[in-house]
Amino acid sequence: MEPHMRLPLAILYLVLIVSAQKNRTFTFPQGFLFGAGTSAYQTEGAHDVDGKGQSIWDTHTHEHPDRIADGSNGDDAAKSYYKYKEDIEAVKEMGMQIYRFSISWPRIMPLGLPNIINQKGIDHYNSVINEVLSNNLIPMATIYHWDLPQHLQDLGGFANDDIIIYYEAYAKVIFENFGDRVKWWCTINEPYYQAFGYEGTLFAPGLNSTGIGGYLAAHNMIKAHARVYHLYEKQYRSKQKGRISLNMPIDWPAPRDKTSTQDQEAAKIELEFSLGWFAHPIYSKEGDYPQVMKDRISNFSLAAGFPFSRLPSFTSAEVEYIRGTADYFALNQYGSKHVAKGEQGPDPSFDRDSGVVMTGNKKWPSSRTSKWETITPKGLRDIIAWIRKEYGEEWEILITENGFADGGQLNDTLRVGYLATYMTDMLKAIYIDKCKVIGYIVWSLIDSFEWMSGYTSTFGLYQVDFKDPERKRTPKQSAYFMANITKTREIPSFYAIVTNKLDKLEGL
Ligand SMILES: *[C@@H]1O[C@H](CO)[C@@H](O)[C@H](O)[C@H]1NC(C)=O
Ligand SMILES: *[C@@H]1O[C@H](CO)[C@@H](O)[C@H](O)[C@H]1NC(C)=O
Ligand SMILES: *[C@@H]1O[C@H](CO)[C@@H](O)[C@H](O)[C@H]1NC(C)=O
Ligand SMILES: *[C@@H]1O[C@H](CO)[C@@H](O)[C@H](O)[C@H]1NC(C)=O
Ligand SMILES: *[C@@H]1O[C@H](CO)[C@@H](O)[C@H](O)[C@H]1NC(C)=O
Repeated sequence: MEPHMRLPLAILYLVLIVSAQKNRTFTFPQGFLFGAGTSAYQTEGAHDVDGKGQSIWDTHTHEHPDRIADGSNGDDAAKSYYKYKEDIEAVKEMGMQIYRFSISWPRIMPLGLPNIINQKGIDHYNSVINEVLSNNLIPMATIYHWDLPQHLQDLGGFANDDIIIYYEAYAKVIFENFGDRVKWWCTINEPYYQAFGYEGTLFAPGLNSTGIGGYLAAHNMIKAHARVYHLYEKQYRSKQKGRISLNMPIDWPAPRDKTSTQDQEAAKIELEFSLGWFAHPIYSKEGDYPQVMKDRISNFSLAAGFPFSRLPSFTSAEVEYIRGTADYFALNQYGSKHVAKGEQGPDPSFDRDSGVVMTGNKKWPSSRTSKWETITPKGLRDIIAWIRKEYGEEWEILITENGFADGGQLNDTLRVGYLATYMTDMLKAIYIDKCKVIGYIVWSLIDSFEWMSGYTSTFGLYQVDFKDPERKRTPKQSAYFMANITKTREIPSFYAIVTNKLDKLEGL
């Protein structure tokens, strides 16, 4: 709109302010951290080298190649075990501050047992951490990113509560050896999806114990996390001065029909069943599982003849022990989905307990290789605001994963658009919604083995040539884009307009 000269000045200003607001791009706050992430099984390869034991993902991919889109595995992956210096160099090239990586439990303890420590595993991560530091980067280490030693799985894995003391013994070795240099810790990556390895068959260990295994594994993961938090608190915090959290994944659930109270209810239940399941015991003022989970799972259990709820319960001492065991909120966020009330899945199952059905929305733009991943940046802003409202404004949020899957091409315009618009809405969460977001870590630094998608779906800022024995890495346009962002610390204003358009997608 062309403001007319004769318009009163006040109206002219108003128009300018409104249109500037529309296009507004913000500068990243001072001290805001940028980073890129990887995990051990997805990138390292060297699956049977230098004394490493077998993990549940080695077993899962070798025994069930049919469950992986291209029948592949992480035996060699991106060979980061050998090429970690190049990976770290790439983080530095992009002007980022944080390199997030994970430590392979079976590389440190081949059987998962604390009496046998593999010194070569310790040596490897010492080299990685020292390389990160010598590049003036901040190491952020995930202690457990889904690659449980197979021997512990043979004893039940996370379904056996003895896992808690074995996990604590492992974490102690990690803090003892690396805590002098690592100040950012993630105890467990996405316990929600790890629990689905017990609920279903797609993720390792693939137990298919629907309605039971996932709740048991989740219960023990939450306790194991809290145990390790207290271990750090008692024995390491005063001298090592690090920060601990666990990474929570959540797709934003929007009611399929905004005018339907049933669908609105489904969206609320979905938030509690997927994020609240782990976040409520740790971040809420009252602790424990969300009430709606306790009620629904108990009702369904009793009705089906169980003498108790299939959702295990915490004692009041445990509720207290777990509450508050995080120093920041580590959020992994990718897409949005439509939800509605409905029944699906076997009886019993997590899906049936929640009473929520997921429906796609073909009108939302999405990744071609991972249909579940929509380009809906508003979902990130909404979930950040929800976390603030539910758990209190005191929690600092660190986006530990956000990124886009594609076919691996160098000219990744969609990924650039995805990152730009998500960061724009994240900045709106900071400046307009007054949420404390302290950093943004892109998933992923390099193309890697994407679990059940194998190598068909790649998230890297750097392309990896998996046909090349040298696994040559090449920066994509998105890597150059991120380098621009970390340098200018603002997003080109064009993306503000794109973000505004995406925020108005029907049904969000
Ligand atoms: C907003 O963006 C449009 C399109 O790029 C541009 O023409 C206009 O001048 C911008 N307005 C402000 C106030 O920056
Ligand atoms: C998983 O369990 C369901 C029953 O709950 C069964 O129908 C299905 O075949 C099982 N899947 C596998 C791969 O064993
Ligand atoms: C659970 O069952 C009780 C008793 O039948 C009922 O009053 C309550 O509404 C049910 N709650 C849920 C969440 O299903
Ligand atoms: C990348 O693709 C876009 C559109 O698909 C095109 O406009 C642009 O020129 C390409 N950039 C490079 C560097 O090839
Ligand atoms: C990075 O910034 C330079 C200079 O402003 C610009 O020419 C280039 O297109 C930008 N690259 C990307 C991928 O955004």
